[in-house]
Amino acid sequence: MLEFRHVHKTYTTPQGPLSVLSGVDLHLDAGESVALMGESGSGKSTLLHLAAGLDLPDRGEVCIHSQSLASLDESGRAHVRRETLGLVFQQFHLVASLNVADNLRLQARLAGCEDSVWSAKLLERLGLAGRENHYPEQLSGGQQQRLAIGRALASRPALLLADEPTGNLDETTAETVLELLLELVAESGSSLLMVTHSPKVAAPLDRRLILRHGQLLAESGESHLPCV
Ligand SMILES: Nc1ncnc2c1ncn2[C@@H]1O[C@H](COP(=O)(O)OP(=O)(O)O)[C@@H](O)[C@H]1O
Ligand SMILES: [Mg+2]
Repeated sequence: MLEFRHVHKTYTTPQGPLSVLSGVDLHLDAGESVALMGESGSGKSTLLHLAAGLDLPDRGEVCIHSQSLASLDESGRAHVRRETLGLVFQQFHLVASLNVADNLRLQARLAGCEDSVWSAKLLERLGLAGRENHYPEQLSGGQQQRLAIGRALASRPALLLADEPTGNLDETTAETVLELLLELVAESGSSLLMVTHSPKVAAPLDRRLILRHGQLLAESGESHLPCV
């Protein structure tokens, strides 16, 4: 359902061109969960932005459900994001002026697939039942992150893209939130592409991929790499 074909991405910086991705191939099946690992600055967030159509590759193709994102205009890509994707980033991006219930429903409403039974279940499972009328600033960091996860899953997206979704939380809270994320992803039948630094977090996922020197490697291939 998500495919990268020979994707290249170079940023223009004052110091000159910075090549971040140099020939990335990736194939993610429906319902599959994949951990994306790699050192800080290796291009993980760049890869997720390309997957979400928030940026375009210089060369190569990114396809969702066999449709090339570069073949669509901005509004076409926004449409794909609404209909197909859930996004969870380190910053929660909750809407401060909307209460918990409205934050949760916003995305699903925009996608035209609001499901009040699923929303209520999400609120319950996220430990936010009874807090529907509270505003984000009245929630703890862990609760805000759970709400951001719930919002991304409220539309039962075909693919959840999560960029270090618990990077801002303490270890215990992070573990609880991640367990919940994986359970809810399984329940909503979504595919998952998640950036994480933690081998423990990555372990239960179907596959672990490592971004290094602009290339994506399967974890098992790591020991066969030449030393560079
Ligand atoms: N918009 C941008 N313009 C220029 N350089 C960028 C931009 N975004 C990211 N970079 C650089 O590209 C590299 C990869 O960044 P990023 O994808 O955020 O890595 P990661 O998420 O793995 O830490 C870093 O060196 C970063 O500084
Ligand atoms: Mg990053």
